[in-house]
Amino acid sequence: MVHPVKVFSLFAILVLECEAGLGKRHVLPGPLQPRPRAQTPKSYRANPERAGAVRDAFDISWRGYYEYAFPHDSLRPVTNTWSDDRNGWGASAVDALSTALVMGDDQVVAEILDFIPNINFDNTTTEVSLFETTIRYLGGLLSAYDLLTGPLSGSYGPSGNWTAILAQAKHLADNLKVAFATPSGVPDNSLRFLPPRTTGSTDNGIATIGTLVLEWTRLSDLTGDETYGLLAQKGEDYLLHPRPSIGEPFPGLLGTNVNISNGMFLDGEGGWGGSDDSFYEYLIKMYLYDPVRFVEYKERWVTAADSTIKYLVSHPTSRPDLTFLAMWQNRTLDFVSEHLACFNGGNFILGGITLNEPRYVDFGLKLVDSCYETYSQTVTGIGPEVFRWQDLNTPLNATNNPPPPANQTTFYNTSGFWINNTGYVLRPEVIESLYYAYRATGDTKYQGWAWEAFVAINRTCAVGSGYSSIRNVNAPDGGGFTNFQESFWFAEVLKYSYMIHAEESPWQFKVDHNNEFVFNTEAHPVKIAAGHERKSRRIRRDTEA
Ligand SMILES: *[C@@H]1O[C@H](CO)[C@@H](O)[C@H](O)[C@H]1NC(C)=O
Ligand SMILES: *[C@@H]1O[C@H](CO)[C@@H](O)[C@H](O)[C@H]1NC(C)=O
Ligand SMILES: *[C@@H]1O[C@H](CO)[C@@H](O)[C@H](O)[C@H]1NC(C)=O
Ligand SMILES: *[C@@H]1O[C@H](CO)[C@@H](O)[C@H](O)[C@H]1NC(C)=O
Ligand SMILES: *[C@@H]1O[C@H](CO)[C@@H](O)[C@H](O)[C@H]1NC(C)=O
Ligand SMILES: *[C@@H]1O[C@H](CO)[C@@H](O)[C@H](O)[C@H]1NC(C)=O
Ligand SMILES: *[C@@H]1O[C@H](CO)[C@@H](O)[C@H](O)[C@H]1NC(C)=O
Ligand SMILES: *[C@@H]1O[C@H](CO)[C@@H](O)[C@H](O)[C@H]1NC(C)=O
Ligand SMILES: *[C@@H]1O[C@H](CO)[C@@H](O)[C@H](O)[C@H]1NC(C)=O
Repeated sequence: MVHPVKVFSLFAILVLECEAGLGKRHVLPGPLQPRPRAQTPKSYRANPERAGAVRDAFDISWRGYYEYAFPHDSLRPVTNTWSDDRNGWGASAVDALSTALVMGDDQVVAEILDFIPNINFDNTTTEVSLFETTIRYLGGLLSAYDLLTGPLSGSYGPSGNWTAILAQAKHLADNLKVAFATPSGVPDNSLRFLPPRTTGSTDNGIATIGTLVLEWTRLSDLTGDETYGLLAQKGEDYLLHPRPSIGEPFPGLLGTNVNISNGMFLDGEGGWGGSDDSFYEYLIKMYLYDPVRFVEYKERWVTAADSTIKYLVSHPTSRPDLTFLAMWQNRTLDFVSEHLACFNGGNFILGGITLNEPRYVDFGLKLVDSCYETYSQTVTGIGPEVFRWQDLNTPLNATNNPPPPANQTTFYNTSGFWINNTGYVLRPEVIESLYYAYRATGDTKYQGWAWEAFVAINRTCAVGSGYSSIRNVNAPDGGGFTNFQESFWFAEVLKYSYMIHAEESPWQFKVDHNNEFVFNTEAHPVKIAAGHERKSRRIRRDTEA
């Protein structure tokens, strides 16, 4: 079935005709010539050996966590202790569930399913982040529910009654709802529980406001109670219509902080990195989720994407072949980027495929190739948390275009960036973008790069009972361990590392518009809204004896 893409260009109509077999591919002369469709792969090549090695790393991480940290949030693998960094509700268990389901790791699935009904989401002694709780816990629960009642129904227990999972998601959201009880409806991101209450924050950022709408809308669609989605959409409205003008320095590209009292932007500083990133990500993912209800979100993504190509593209003086995206302070560019921002290539590819716009796919591939260089150029083969470069097209004496520090000149001359923060905290974004690049092209080069990245991380970050964040990607041994295994290591790094080598499945990203799932920013596959998804084919797995 062809997605009801609302792009009534001649190009789109031709594509629809071709897909429906109604016409041959026309090549028109002159200005009417349609852009070619992005080259889409005829097939993918699964690599069970590599997928199995990623699953082995997942099992090592899980066993360490289960033995030394469960039911706390995160494992400290060097000391075999735990941390309750996400309110003590078992963050790693909830974050690991959708990955265990995708991997068919039945023992781990069973251990987590036993645990979920017992989580007490009413009590916690630490501050609750609406954003982190939404993307990890709520996203993890909804995804598990969607997988278990969809393509995996019947695979885990005959009852198929997963009501308890959805009930936990609803209960959690009912506790979080108070966040939206502000004068403007822009949520307060910081809560306290027992009873749930806001903490009186004065402002909130566009990522934390704008990365709720997928999970909260999904919850509404699953429960039939529209309240949840409406709350998130109301907060988001201030981001779709930013005021005053300082909040939108380039069309579609926004500042970061919004006044909770009245929904007004407080600044014009932003980028595709942390604090802003997943606001842009969700604009196009909402359209993939439901292309009828979220047309305006798509239009805002297109505006942001076009401004990005027009204003933010930057090539390093030492490596003009690379393409990075600058950040901005009002309309002044800052030539800095981050590991977090490297989801941008994958997001452009997803947008280009979804909208039949090959130019976004091509641009996304350039971003992917360039972020991959931040891995391939370091001693460990892992990319740094923050990097900078000198822009080729800005005067070298401009105050916003400084040269590298003296002790990184040699590195910059060959690499095209210098390292501004040397850490690596088990982040997924580079491998995530390689995943989309592979799905879009079928080019096994991207599988090779993702495998290299996984092997480098597996080699450098393995320690004690699991894997740890490291201090320096450009020191041979990683510069030491921080003794912390992030829950998103389970949800994201291991999932994308696995899926790029795994066989076809209902949750793999499809280039033919037959998607059944869309990944939340924590890599939890969320089922696309009813009526817009592909017909589900059930997967029956032989359960291990
Ligand atoms: C909430 O959790 C804290 C810390 O575990 C505990 O001391 C307290 O008794 C709990 N309160 C309730 C009402 O369960
Ligand atoms: C499903 O399980 C819940 C408890 O988890 C129970 O209350 C409910 O009655 C069950 N529904 C069915 C149809 O078995
Ligand atoms: C936020 O909005 C309120 C209500 O309009 C206003 O009183 C306050 O000064 C604003 N805060 C800032 C930092 O602009
Ligand atoms: C951005 O613009 C605002 C309003 O014009 C101004 O107050 C602020 O100082 C500017 N910030 C930067 C970093 O240039
Ligand atoms: C940079 O150099 C150019 C040419 O030498 C000069 O005209 C300009 O004023 C300089 N700009 C700054 C910010 O120093
Ligand atoms: C470069 O010098 C700074 C300041 O002395 C130091 O902090 C940093 O570790 C050095 N970096 C490298 C790569 O040697
Ligand atoms: C780096 O490249 C610049 C520009 O080509 C050159 O001036 C400089 O000598 C090089 N530095 C090193 C350490 O290679
Ligand atoms: C990161 O870059 C900023 C801006 O150039 C600089 O002030 C800071 O010292 C850098 N930090 C490190 C650790 O290199
Ligand atoms: C990954 O690391 C584990 C633990 O050190 C090791 O046993 C395994 O062989 C590694 N896998 C690969 C593919 O290098």
